[in-house]
Amino acid sequence: MRKFSSYELTELIKFGIDPFSVNPKNIPVEYITEKALFYNRYFKVNKNVLIPRIETEEIVSIVIKNIKKKKNIKFADVGTGSGAIGITLFLELSKTKKVTGYLSDISDKALKVAQENVNGLLKTEKRKDHNLHVLKSDLFNNFPESLKNRLDLIVANLPYIPKDRISKLPKSVKNYEPYLALNGGEDGLALIKKFLKKAQLYLASNGIMILEVDDTHIKPIAVKGFKVKIKNDVNKKLRFWIYTATQKKTTDFIQ
Ligand SMILES: C[S@@+](CC[C@H](N)C(=O)[O-])C[C@H]1O[C@@H](n2cnc3c(N)ncnc32)[C@H](O)[C@@H]1O
Repeated sequence: MRKFSSYELTELIKFGIDPFSVNPKNIPVEYITEKALFYNRYFKVNKNVLIPRIETEEIVSIVIKNIKKKKNIKFADVGTGSGAIGITLFLELSKTKKVTGYLSDISDKALKVAQENVNGLLKTEKRKDHNLHVLKSDLFNNFPESLKNRLDLIVANLPYIPKDRISKLPKSVKNYEPYLALNGGEDGLALIKKFLKKAQLYLASNGIMILEVDDTHIKPIAVKGFKVKIKNDVNKKLRFWIYTATQKKTTDFIQ
């Protein structure tokens, strides 16, 4: 039998899977159970989506800390994958606020999983009426024009692994998780640079934007009119760039 960690064994048994039947060797347990725990809720996952990571939960905590005062929130989760960040934000924030969310991804297969998670989790938590929209979009290309300057919050955990490093990742990652979810181009920032150019058009003047990045991305990309803070993750590794506006927005954006 493959050697499992106690966490893996618990998960297999919880979901009624015989550990002796698990094959091949390196497949992540979450792809066998088709369930991944994120911020205390199980999300459906399959090979078309990244398994949401514990580090990423911090995005939810940063948001909750930073937007206590606002009563109406419009937000986007760009590159939503399973929907873990966006759905969690919706469920947590809408306990006290009126929330509208846009969950977007370029992958149809990922969006199918995100939609299933929206349907499943909102039903479980008895949220009949909701404003959570699942949207196919290459970054912001298909976002409604009406959202320009209107989003209070944009979060994104886009692919950020430098291309050359992908072959060196553990087999459980490189052989099973979607390449589209990992490949951040030459320096890991290819998509993030494009994202920042567009995101500033959609963020409201007092909005906040949180990006998950690689721990080698020690120098945040400057965006005119915004200050940026770096934050570490639970493992004390550099992980987040947090942008907030320093001045009223102009049309003078980064090139
Ligand atoms: C690192 S995964 C993160 C998934 C999820 N947000 C999470 O934290 O678990 C990145 C996601 O970005 C999506 N993606 C890749 N290129 C994209 C693009 N140009 N526009 C929108 N989404 C993209 C991938 O399909 C993938 O689902």
